Amino acid sequence: MEKPKVVLGVAGGIAAYKACELLRRLTESGHDVRVVPTASALHFVGAATWSALSGHPVSTEVWADVHEVPHVRIGQSADLVVVAPATADLLAKAAHGLADDLLTNTLLTARCPVVFAPAMHTEMWEHPATRENVATLRRRGAVVIEPAVGRLTGVDTGKGRLPDPGEIFELCRRVLARGVPEPDLAGRHVVVSAGGTREPLDPVRYLGNRSSGKQGFALARTAAARGARVTLIEANTGMADPAGVDVVHVGTAVQLREAVLKAAAEADAVVMAAAVADFRPAVYAEGKIKKKDGEEPAPVALVRNPDILAEISAERAHEEQVIVGFAAETDDVLANGRRKLLRKGCDLLVVNEVGERKAFGTEENEAVVLAADGGETPVPYGPKEALAEVVWDLVVPRLGSRPGPAPEGEPR
Ligand SMILES: Cc1cc2nc3c(=O)[nH]c(=O)nc-3n(C[C@H](O)[C@H](O)[C@H](O)COP(=O)(O)O)c2cc1C
Repeated sequence: MEKPKVVLGVAGGIAAYKACELLRRLTESGHDVRVVPTASALHFVGAATWSALSGHPVSTEVWADVHEVPHVRIGQSADLVVVAPATADLLAKAAHGLADDLLTNTLLTARCPVVFAPAMHTEMWEHPATRENVATLRRRGAVVIEPAVGRLTGVDTGKGRLPDPGEIFELCRRVLARGVPEPDLAGRHVVVSAGGTREPLDPVRYLGNRSSGKQGFALARTAAARGARVTLIEANTGMADPAGVDVVHVGTAVQLREAVLKAAAEADAVVMAAAVADFRPAVYAEGKIKKKDGEEPAPVALVRNPDILAEISAERAHEEQVIVGFAAETDDVLANGRRKLLRKGCDLLVVNEVGERKAFGTEENEAVVLAADGGETPVPYGPKEALAEVVWDLVVPRLGSRPGPAPEGEPR
C-alpha cells in the first residue's frame, strides 16, 4: 500500500525545532513526509536537517526543480498538509491567498485537509488581524488548533506555545483517518467535560471516582480534528492537555459546574463526559482528621452536589444547543439509561455498562447512545475515539443552522 503523503510546512518561529519531532513521528509511523519550510524557518533549523530526516530534497521557493512544477505538484499530491509552527505571518498569507514561496503555493494547490498549528507570542495571537485570519481559515475548513499556554521565548509566559508534537501528531493521524476534507464541526464551539471530580474531606483526603478522563479527551481531540473550537473542562485526569483545545482545570463538582455554565453560555454543544460526584462531604475539616485511641471514626455526612447535566438541559443557552450526557450503569443498563435521559432532559445519553474491560481507565469502550427522539445507536467494543466519532456524528445533524456567537474577536 502506498504511504500517505504528508506535507509538513514549517514557518519561521522559534518552535521550528519541535517540528523535527513531529517529522520523526510521522515518518516512523509510515507516512511519506515532504518538508516545505519557509526561508525564515531555515534561520532556526537548516535544510540539511529537514532533508536528512524526511529523505526528500528541501526547498523554500518555487524556482528549484522547475521541470517538476513543485509549486503545484506537492500540494496536489498531498493527503494532508500540516503547518507547524504556523507564524502570524504565514496565517496572514494563507488567509489572503498569497503565494510568494513554495509553502504558500502548496497551501493554494492542496485539496486535502489542512492543519495549522500556530505558535507565537500572546500579543500576536490575540491581535485582531491574527484572530480574523484564523477565523477565515477555519471558515474555509482548515483545522487551526489552539496554541498551548506556557513558557514562550525568553521569560514570557502565556498562550502561544506550540502544542506538544506528540499531540499534533495524534491530531494529524485523526484528520488523516477521517479522510474528510470538510470538517463538519468547523465554525462550531463545543464544550466537553472530562475526568472525575474530587470532593475534599480534609486537606489530604477526598471522595473521588475511577473516571480516567480518556473518553472525554477522545471527544475533545476528535472534535478538534473535525474543526470545532473546543473547550475541555478537565477534572483530575493527570493527563497532558490535548493539542488544539482550550483547557480549564477544575477539581470539585461545584468548580466544574461553574466552568461548564460559563463555557456553555456560547456553545453549540455540550458533552458531559466527566464523572461528577453526586454527593460531597457536608463538612470540610480545615485540619487533617486524626485517629483517636479507643474511638470509632465519626460517620461522614454527605450533601447533594448540583446536577449539572439536568441544569444545563433545562436552561439552555439557546434553543438549538445540543446537550449530551453520559451514564455509567451496572445493571438493567438500557432501561436505567432511558429513565435517566428523560429525567435529565438532554438530547443524547451515552450509556456505558461498567465492567472489567469497559468504561473506567481502559482504552476501549462499548456503549449505546440513546436519543431523546427515540433513537438508539449501539457502538460495539472498540477504541474510545470510535465512540467519540459516533457521538459527534449524532450531534452534527442536531446542531441546526444557528451559528453560535462568535468567540471574542472572531467575526462569523
Ligand atoms: C528569534 C525569533 C523568533 C520568532 N518567533 C516567532 C514565532 O514564534 N511566531 C511568529 O509568528 N513569528 C516569530 N518570529 C517572527 C517571524 O520569524 C517573522 O514574522 C517572519 O517574517 C516569518 O516568516 P514566515 O512566516 O515566512 O516563516 C520570530 C522571529 C525571531 C527573530
